[in-house]
Amino acid sequence: MSLSEELIKIIKTRRTIRQFRAEAIDQSVLIECIDCARVAPSARNLQPLEYCLVTEPDLVAEIFPLLKWAGYIAPDGNPRDGQHPIGYLVVLVNKDLMQSRHANDAGAAIENFILAAWAHGIGTCWIASVERLKLRPLLEIPEKYEIDSVIAFGFPAESPVLETASEIRYWKDAEKVLHVPKKPMNTILHFNHWNRPERS
Ligand SMILES: Cc1cc2nc3c(=O)[nH]c(=O)nc-3n(C[C@H](O)[C@H](O)[C@H](O)COP(=O)(O)O)c2cc1C
Repeated sequence: MSLSEELIKIIKTRRTIRQFRAEAIDQSVLIECIDCARVAPSARNLQPLEYCLVTEPDLVAEIFPLLKWAGYIAPDGNPRDGQHPIGYLVVLVNKDLMQSRHANDAGAAIENFILAAWAHGIGTCWIASVERLKLRPLLEIPEKYEIDSVIAFGFPAESPVLETASEIRYWKDAEKVLHVPKKPMNTILHFNHWNRPERS
């Protein structure tokens, strides 16, 4: 497989994972993934993002109840007992370097981390539903940092299925397999002049 084919495969096979194997991950691999976040595009190259990597087991367990999982199907999407994440990456924005596009920076950096992790066989769940008022004192995060997101990670214990459909709600089937719909190309792609169907 060529490099471009491999990269496209990584991008297209990536799915959010919410069931994990209780298997450790080398810290060096995680740091390589964070290094991919570090080199992401950044508006005005201000680089306002910093990261807190949490793998200490007691702390990982304390973070778990501060997160909300798979809102459309709750509580069916919650990680089951024995299938919790083995760690978290907490993504922080330095308020001194904040600008109107910092959320774009976070998106680019987080996606880099997620795709690098997937390339190593590591599953992730990007979580914005976080009890930030409880997470901050737990990790002793200074007030000058905004908590953007928490990325849960671990080796996958589920294989969600990509569907092409116009709906937005993901679902679990009778076998508890997660199905994730994405809108069809012909409903989101426009060529040149708006509303002219022909490619030109
Ligand atoms: C900004 C953002 C916030 C998200 N927050 C949550 C969250 O709080 N809890 C959760 O379980 N999933 C969360 N997700 C994951 C989405 O539910 C998931 O990406 C979506 O269902 C599509 O699935 P896919 O990632 O497999 O394509 C979030 C994703 C993004 C991009």
